[in-house]
Amino acid sequence: MSVSAIRESYDEYADRMSRFEPVDRVLLGRYRRARFGDLDGRVLDVACGTGTNFRYLPDAVDLVGIDVSPEMLANAEETLADLDRNGTLRRMDAGDLEFPADSFDAVISALSTCTFPDPVAALREMDRVCRPDGTIRLVEHGLSDVWPIARFQEWRADAHYAKSGCRWTQEPRELVESAGLPVEDVSTGPFGMITTLEVTPTRNAEP
Ligand SMILES: C[S@@+](CC[C@H](N)C(=O)[O-])C[C@H]1O[C@@H](n2cnc3c(N)ncnc32)[C@H](O)[C@@H]1O
Repeated sequence: MSVSAIRESYDEYADRMSRFEPVDRVLLGRYRRARFGDLDGRVLDVACGTGTNFRYLPDAVDLVGIDVSPEMLANAEETLADLDRNGTLRRMDAGDLEFPADSFDAVISALSTCTFPDPVAALREMDRVCRPDGTIRLVEHGLSDVWPIARFQEWRADAHYAKSGCRWTQEPRELVESAGLPVEDVSTGPFGMITTLEVTPTRNAEP
């Protein structure tokens, strides 16, 4: 799907995703908190959606969120207000971030690389805007390591993509490595479907 098709699709999903947030909190809250709860400084949330990650970031961070969908960003504004916290939200394509290099102490993204038309380009953009001594943190979903679930995902992969623009059999770790980014730490969640990663910016990696 093109960036504009994805935008239209997620514009439609935005209110539903906000209503789903309490369920997300139960299912994924601990994974988001574990990856994002220790960050500080200026933090970029790439494809922030309705702002589901915001509650897991420490209050002191200087939060910037970007997303391609205006409806998602409108819901993210409400999330900021509900949480009584400050943040800057901008409409932007993850594959072409409008920030200079080294702009952020941390770059985070959740459940999003599966929807980017060019996820490798988006990961390299995250790497570019992150300071060399910063950190990139991801909470992603992918192919289950439980056989019947994995077969179901493979069987429905094309239909799921056509409906939502989400590649749900994508392997997050393989994707990050194919972008040339060094994985510092990885952990998996329920049924192997959730993968959380800490990635070292390439300019700080061992030669
Ligand atoms: C499944 S939602 C996840 C939202 C949020 N990160 C979360 O964890 O709930 C995927 C998000 O990616 C956004 N997105 C997809 N492609 C994008 C792109 N190229 N640039 C910026 N945002 C994009 C969508 O608009 C949507 O908000």
